[in-house]
Amino acid sequence: MRTVIYPGSFDPVTNGHLDVVRRSLAIFDRVVVAVFDAPSNKTVLFNGQERVALIKEALTAIGVADRVDAELFAGLLVDYLSKKNVRFVVRGLRAMSDFDREFQMAIVNKKLLPDAETVFIVTDKQYFYLNSTLVKELAKHDAELNDMVPKNVERALREKFAA
Ligand code: PNS
Repeated sequence: MRTVIYPGSFDPVTNGHLDVVRRSLAIFDRVVVAVFDAPSNKTVLFNGQERVALIKEALTAIGVADRVDAELFAGLLVDYLSKKNVRFVVRGLRAMSDFDREFQMAIVNKKLLPDAETVFIVTDKQYFYLNSTLVKELAKHDAELNDMVPKNVERALREKFAA
């Protein structure tokens, strides 16, 4: 049974993230979406539990919840990998601008845990422009989100910004 960890902030999960999950299932038997609890370089809109709940609902809606789980993690990714006894990490790659940071993270993780392997899935062109920050910006100004996020996430964004 091959399991891969898909780590990220997921604030909130987008259809681009779900596409990476779906495509990871063609390579791995199980995916664990690992939600980084408190990204120090970002202020988050949704707290950790909210982000996990939104992902779980979205996974159920697309019918992959039996092979994919979502949970919070804190601290270093490599420590989480060791605790879960998993050596594979998947990340989505969009533009070239993602490359530097992703390359750095993969190298650092491998240095800390030589067994760790990072697999990159190149984003579908439909999601090339898409990221959580953009989605939040659009939702804040009540713009259309169309097919950028799952329906439950769109509802949650509308509620957050209406509050
Ligand atoms: O969605 P993001 O914000 O690009 O995800 C970044 C994330 C959460 C994968 C990365 O910041 C991470 O792994 N954080 C955990 C702390 C850690 O292990 N840092 C060293 C990795 S270089």
